[in-house]
Amino acid sequence: MSTVIDLRRRRFLTASTAVVGATGMAVAAWPFIASWRPSERARAAGAPVVVDVSKLEPGQQITVKWRGKPVWILRRTPEMLSRLSRLTLQLRDPASRVASQQPDYARNEYRSIRSEYLVAVGLCTHLGCVPTFRPDIAPEDLGPSWLGGYFCPCHGSRFDLAGRVFIGVPAPTNLVIPPYRYVSDTVIGIGIDARTD
Ligand code: FES
Repeated sequence: MSTVIDLRRRRFLTASTAVVGATGMAVAAWPFIASWRPSERARAAGAPVVVDVSKLEPGQQITVKWRGKPVWILRRTPEMLSRLSRLTLQLRDPASRVASQQPDYARNEYRSIRSEYLVAVGLCTHLGCVPTFRPDIAPEDLGPSWLGGYFCPCHGSRFDLAGRVFIGVPAPTNLVIPPYRYVSDTVIGIGIDARTD
């Protein structure tokens, strides 16, 4: 009898692990996941999404889903960060003055809690297309002044690697930074506001 229960339990754990694995970068520790993993209904209503970024390489970006929207997590290299300060004069809102676009704790040049990681909603603020991640420098199609950023293929809006919109494009504002906080050194909870700390 106990063997049957053990087998059922094992199947349940295997299935659960597969679900967690499907999210790619989700947290590995089972007890932690169990306490954070929301039901589908809760997720749709805006439950937090917890993401382990420990395996993210410098320069790499992943996309997770939160409230039905794509959310990018980009691990920026020191070179990427150093280029951001060179763009100020080309940006519409370099200091993140439009308060609706980010929480207060992301109102800085990097638009993040820790400069290394950008967490941003991957939807263009013009009409909601998903911009492409273009970290390459001066590619032929984007021109010699391109220092890496996001390009919206729908109507040509451009954003830098902090999600700040360039002057002269259709998008009116910077990309949205969602509420988030660091649950641990390498785990980010999207939808958990850092102000509640
Ligand atoms: S939706 Fe991105 S530029 Fe129009």
